[in-house]
Amino acid sequence: MIRILAAGDVIGKPGRKALAKLLPLARETFKPDIVIVNGENAAGGFGLTKKIYDQFINNFGIDCVTMGNHWHDKPEIHNFAPTAERLVLPANMMNVGDNALAFRVLQTADGTPFAVINLIGKAFMHADNRDFFKPVDDILANLPSQCRIRIVDFHGEATSEKQALGHYLKGRASLVYGTHSHVPTADERIFEGGTGYTTDLGMTGPYDSVIGIRTEAALLRMQTGDRKRFEPATNDLWFCFVLADIDPTNGKCIKIERFRWEWDVIKKRLELDDSEEGI
Ligand SMILES: [Fe+2]
Ligand SMILES: [Fe+2]
Repeated sequence: MIRILAAGDVIGKPGRKALAKLLPLARETFKPDIVIVNGENAAGGFGLTKKIYDQFINNFGIDCVTMGNHWHDKPEIHNFAPTAERLVLPANMMNVGDNALAFRVLQTADGTPFAVINLIGKAFMHADNRDFFKPVDDILANLPSQCRIRIVDFHGEATSEKQALGHYLKGRASLVYGTHSHVPTADERIFEGGTGYTTDLGMTGPYDSVIGIRTEAALLRMQTGDRKRFEPATNDLWFCFVLADIDPTNGKCIKIERFRWEWDVIKKRLELDDSEEGI
């Protein structure tokens, strides 16, 4: 059995703090073989820098970083993405050329191969994003046959598109989950054919906010159109993730479970250090 821990959009420094504090505890508790996070908001809420990517891989031991519509917000990503072995970009996004950077075939510590695929939605997103059905068909068709564990991060706004893709990939993917909404859904289940599914993992970051952004700035923009700079909020940090157990012989999901770990509660209960040193 291979256990996957998948976490949604990590929001700026507060999100990285939640991850730095709580991922080690989750590792100790659940012993995941694969850890995947979505990094599109990891740098100040918008995009990903090389420094943070390296921190995720080298310090946090993350196996693969998925992205989304904010993938290109920090221009330096154009330099490091092509050679980043544990980074995937949404295959069908209007400014991602083809499938080459949209999937990775990696290995667990015991040598079990697994694939991570990144796609993006069309509804309520950039009008020029392309169809996502054909790219995922093409990627799946070209994966090595011994790679049975196939994981899809579908980065989309519309719950309908995410559920539709989950059904479309029944029996062809081990785990399909949504990211981007920054709000966790409670519909995790296993589809016929052994495909674990949830509509959105939710963000890892500050929930005293409007989807991670300071509430006053979000309200001001909605009420007056004021374009005050959006910055990540800081309070009420949650680490939201699912654990999915996969049979490596056939790639089928056996169990999927959702977690919401609140830093303030756990910190108090376990008397953990609240410092942000090295984050
Ligand atoms: Fe996001
Ligand atoms: Fe997004």
